[in-house]
Amino acid sequence: MTDLAALTSLSYDQRTKAFLEYLDRGRAAGPVAKSYQPGVWEVFGYDEALQVLGDHRTFSSDMNDLIPEDERELASAAQGNFLGVDPPHHTRMRELVRRAFTPKVIASLEPIIIETANELLDRIELSADGTGTFDLVAEYAAPLTARVIAKLFGIPEKDHGMFTVWADALLGARSAGELGRADESAVRELGELVRFASSYLLEIIHQRRAEPQDDLISALAQAEVDGRSLDDHEIVGVIGMFVIAGHLPSSVLVGSTVMSLDSHPDVLAEVRSDVDLLPKVVEEVLRWRPPLVRDQRVTACETELGGERIPAGAMVCVWLLSAQRDAAHFGRAEEFDIHRPNQGRHVAFGKGIHYCLGAPLARMEARIALTALLQRFEQIEVLPESGIQFHPSIGVLGPVRLPVAVRRAAQAG
Ligand code: HEM
Repeated sequence: MTDLAALTSLSYDQRTKAFLEYLDRGRAAGPVAKSYQPGVWEVFGYDEALQVLGDHRTFSSDMNDLIPEDERELASAAQGNFLGVDPPHHTRMRELVRRAFTPKVIASLEPIIIETANELLDRIELSADGTGTFDLVAEYAAPLTARVIAKLFGIPEKDHGMFTVWADALLGARSAGELGRADESAVRELGELVRFASSYLLEIIHQRRAEPQDDLISALAQAEVDGRSLDDHEIVGVIGMFVIAGHLPSSVLVGSTVMSLDSHPDVLAEVRSDVDLLPKVVEEVLRWRPPLVRDQRVTACETELGGERIPAGAMVCVWLLSAQRDAAHFGRAEEFDIHRPNQGRHVAFGKGIHYCLGAPLARMEARIALTALLQRFEQIEVLPESGIQFHPSIGVLGPVRLPVAVRRAAQAG
């Protein structure tokens, strides 16, 4: 079996090809297999992926036993990060956040996203003939999605850059090809960052409790379920989770969509003539090249899955990307087809009780970011693969650096 860590040193095309081959080979051998990494089982099939994500009693999200006892800040922030907890704690936390992060709040971000996207595009330097090159993810998609999260929480403008740094550090806690748990030293290193970020955020939370404003921190501070509300450390954890969960995959999605359109000129022409097709394009990118390629769980008891017996305490790596290539559910899976009938059945946002809370926001960000790009530039060409950089984790698929050459559209002025 390929050691997935070895793939991370390859170029964009080679890495994608080798990774897809790894998943297709795995799925052909069976829906579930014991991994080459000890204590880990890998899930390749669509039905089995749904089974894992739909059964939180057997497949737990709680991996907090890894946090050293003396890392108190990490432990209490982890309580707010409900991605990594099970019911009943998860149910209460998710409901509290859902009450604050409403469809109305998400809709209110639309003009902010449009304005920020155009502001960022205005900063791109073009020569007199309207042509230029820039890094589409580092200079556009990433600052856009980071600022949206920062604005959502009412973080002062001057500190927005901190969010990107924070998210990158939190995401970098695992080594490149790691399928199992992060090691303790990596978690300890995070402790320092979390202490700094927590004290910064706690001050803002205190301010918002004293003087509520029109932002998510104030709404989180006021939300109640059965007479109980979030404490300050839980709010810090919620913010941390949004930073981790919300910023990177959303920016990678924009980059992957540009790459997908670049390699499918027929689809690009279709979308240029009808931008209302963009949501379909984004949906197919989520299926074809999802930003997050796996979900993880730990077995709470011994169980059987896809014909394999899995002991209690095993890590289960659910390959979302493999599930979305399962021929029993997605015909001609390697084809990028924006008109495929069962498009919405992808699992790029997960499934079950942990289904992505930010999915509507991610879809809206991608639609707006791409509409602004297509309106601004009549030509967008991805530059040779040497300049394209992946996120180091094997769990993230797509560019974090994407050099493009552009030509300004005549009507964009
Ligand atoms: C393209 C962008 C995104 C992708 C691909 C994505 C993907 C996912 C996936 C796969 C999960 C499930 C994790 C699991 O089952 O363990 C998840 C959960 C979550 N996502 Fe997203 N996400 C994206 C954007 C966002 C955004 C923009 C936000 C918030 C602003 C967000 C907030 C969350 C939260 C809070 C959870 C945890 C839900 C829970 O545990 O109940 N995500 N996301």
